[in-house]
Formats: sequence, C-alpha cells, structure tokens
Amino acid sequence: MSDKKCTFTLDGKEITSQPGQTIMEACDDAGIHIPRLCDVEGLRHQGSCRVCTVKVNGCTTSSCTQPAEEGLVVESETEEIINLRRDVVRMLFHEGNHLCPICEASGNCELQATAYDLGITQPTKFPYLQPVRSLDASHPDIALDTNRCIRCGRCIRASQDVDDKGIFGYTGRGIHRNVAVNGDNLADTNASLEDVAFSPEICPVGCIIRKKVGFSTPIGKREFDDPMPEGNGKQKNIKPTAQKKRIATTSLAGCFGCHMSLLDIDERVLDLMKVAEFDRSPLNDIKKFTTRCDIGLIEGGCCNEENVHVLQEFRKNCDILVAVGQCAIMGGLPVMRNAIMHSDDPLKDCFDEAYINSPYIQNDRHRIPDDPALPLILDSVYSTVDVVKVDYQIPGCPPSGDMLWQTLSALIAGEPESLPKELIKYD
Ligand code: SF4
Ligand code: SF4
Ligand code: SF4
Ligand code: FES
Repeated sequence: MSDKKCTFTLDGKEITSQPGQTIMEACDDAGIHIPRLCDVEGLRHQGSCRVCTVKVNGCTTSSCTQPAEEGLVVESETEEIINLRRDVVRMLFHEGNHLCPICEASGNCELQATAYDLGITQPTKFPYLQPVRSLDASHPDIALDTNRCIRCGRCIRASQDVDDKGIFGYTGRGIHRNVAVNGDNLADTNASLEDVAFSPEICPVGCIIRKKVGFSTPIGKREFDDPMPEGNGKQKNIKPTAQKKRIATTSLAGCFGCHMSLLDIDERVLDLMKVAEFDRSPLNDIKKFTTRCDIGLIEGGCCNEENVHVLQEFRKNCDILVAVGQCAIMGGLPVMRNAIMHSDDPLKDCFDEAYINSPYIQNDRHRIPDDPALPLILDSVYSTVDVVKVDYQIPGCPPSGDMLWQTLSALIAGEPESLPKELIKYD
C-alpha cells in the first residue's frame, strides 16, 4: 500500500488517493460510488462479496482491498464489470431465501438497493436453492433470520474487533457456510442491543432483526425507497401496430394481486384495447386458448399439477411468456411451505396443520380433502422458470400498474424489452 499520495485513473478520470487508501476509499473521497456489500466504514476490509469488483490494469479484483497505486488504470462502469456485479448479486438472491414482500428490511436493505442500482430485473438466471436455514428468536431484543444472511461477515468483524465479544462466527464450508452464534442460541450469548454488531448499520439485509421496531417506518419512507419518477411512466404511449396483438393471462398459485395491478393501468386500458385483444384470461373468464397468442402473462407459481398443465399450455400457445410478480418469478409467499424446518415431510405437516390439528379447524371427518376433482398438490412450490422457459420477468408484489403498462407497451410495439429501472420493485 502506497505511503504517499498517488494518482490513478478510474474509467479515464484522474483520482488522487491519500496515503494508505484502497481504490474504493479513494473513489469514495472523489464522490464516485462503487457498489459494495461486505465492506462498511469502520470495519476492516474483508473482500469477500466481490460486488465491488473492478478491473485493475486488465485484471479483476475487489476495489475494497486493492491498494491505490500510482498509474493504475481502473475500470468500473464498463458493461463487462456491471454484468459481473449483477451475476454476483443475483447469486446472493438465489443462495438464500429472499422474500422481499414480507421482509421488514425491505426498503432499508443494501442487497435490494444494490439490485435496483444494477437494474436487475431477472434474478432467476440461476436456479433458486431454497435452503432450509435457522431462525433464532430466543433473545428478548434481537432475532436472527439466517434465510436472509449473505455472509458478508460484517456482524462477525463488528463483534470481534469493535465489541470485543466474538458473538458471531462462521460454520460450515462452501455453499454450506453459515453465520452462527457462540452458543446454542442467541439468548445463551452475552449479546446486547448496545453492541455495535447489532446496530442498524451493520447487517446490510434483514438477517439481524431488532424486535419491537419492525415495520415502524412505512413503505415509501425507508432509506432506499425512491419516489416514483415524474409522470409515473405514463409518458409512454402505446404504439398502434398493423394487427392487434393477442394477449393471454392466467393466475396460477398467486393471490390475484398482480391482475389487480394490471387493472391499475386505469384509463390506459382503452388505449390497450385499441391495439390488443385478450384471449384466455381470468379478466374475461375465458379458460381455453382459442388461437395462438403473442404474449402470455403468468401470475403465480406452481403449487399443484393443474398449475403445471396450465403453464405448459401457455408456453405452447404464446410466442412471448412473461412471469409477472414475485410468485411467478421465485414462488413468492406460497414457496414458504418448501422451507418448513425440522420436518421430513413438509407437505404432510402443512396438510395436518391445515385440516387436522389446527385448533381453528372444524373437520369432523378428520380427513385431508381427497376428492378426485381436486388437483394433486406438488411436493414443493415451483417458480415458472422451474417448469418452462420464460422470456421476461416483471418483479414486484405486485408490480405497479405503470410497470405493467411500460412492459406491455414495449412488447406490443415489438421492442426488445429492457424494463424501466426506476419502476422496478421487489416488494
Ligand atoms: S429486503 Fe433484502 S434481506 Fe429482505 S428479503 Fe429482500 S433482499 Fe432479502
Ligand atoms: S448476519 Fe447480516 S451482517 Fe452478519 S453475515 Fe449475515 S448478512 Fe452479514
Ligand atoms: S406477486 Fe404478490 S400480488 Fe402477485 S400474485 Fe404473488 S402475492 Fe399476489
Ligand atoms: S465490498 Fe469489496 S469484496 Fe465486498
């Protein structure tokens, strides 16, 4: 590490660093942000998340650990580097269980905000691993939901280096590496809300939860909640095409919220009717395809065999298939049943709870419904991409009417779709 000032270039711009600074620190001082997840001011650098990757003299490296040196040629905002960061962040979404719509960190979450910044609209490029991870609510003031842990190690460094306690550490290796506490559970440690490790700045996601304050800041007022852009996307006019496009929509294992959001395009539905007609749709109650369609919109994932059949029908009959909303993209709320812990047979446990054992159920026959007319439930909930090839994904629970409008407008106009970054919401 250089012990004197030096000058390097970042994307062609000259940056002067102070003695001992890393590339990231020098860029911060110059007002240029490099995205990061494992690095945070006040803790020693770790260099594990690789979100801050840059190219230095042609080689990729983490900017949070790379010392600034005289004459370095650093690339940061190139397409190659941005795509690399996108893949790293996508993998974090896929390794854990990130259900933003029900996460109290949503809007305050650095992982989510980084994904927005990188314009990630298709987190399902990789398969979802849906691991079964522990939830520790034993402590009176703090809970740990390791489903959302991205193993940034910030809590570990804070507890070891700042608090001098060593409450956190890693267990396991590779993909099975997890953060664990120094005891049977958190209540058995000397963890305290006063610890720096438990301050809101340390955990970048919703893994370390301070009890009794959850959801106290309303959506829209959270740290990374951006106001909707001026005009809310309404400026995009739908372009007439020579022939009306045919659209089909369906709701699989979803709550119909995404279809309700489609209705939020409001009076623009009149413009839509000029250029498109609906074929199969719960909106007009047609259940079968009457002809081949240009665009299929799928809400919800697959919980039962009928969902799978309908989805396969859509793939067969639609030129472009769009997964609309978190349930279609990654299973959404229904997928929570996949991760019922301490059970060899989560599906049976769900049924027993729902139909037999719950104190709120009246089921005199003590039977799980088994009428042949009922579609068979699948062993797990699957996202649409687990079952068929999906062309586009629109995240959100539900995506806004403006987001749906923008996407439909572009698809109807035959434009290659790049979703408007400012309208993307994961929650
Ligand atoms: S808000 Fe952040 S921590 Fe919570 S589920 Fe979404 S990505 Fe994960
Ligand atoms: S608990 Fe939070 S701070 Fe600790 S490693 Fe996991 S994500 Fe990082
Ligand atoms: S993504 Fe949200 S709004 Fe859409 S179907 Fe699923 S739960 Fe409902
Ligand atoms: S911020 Fe540099 S590797 Fe994580």
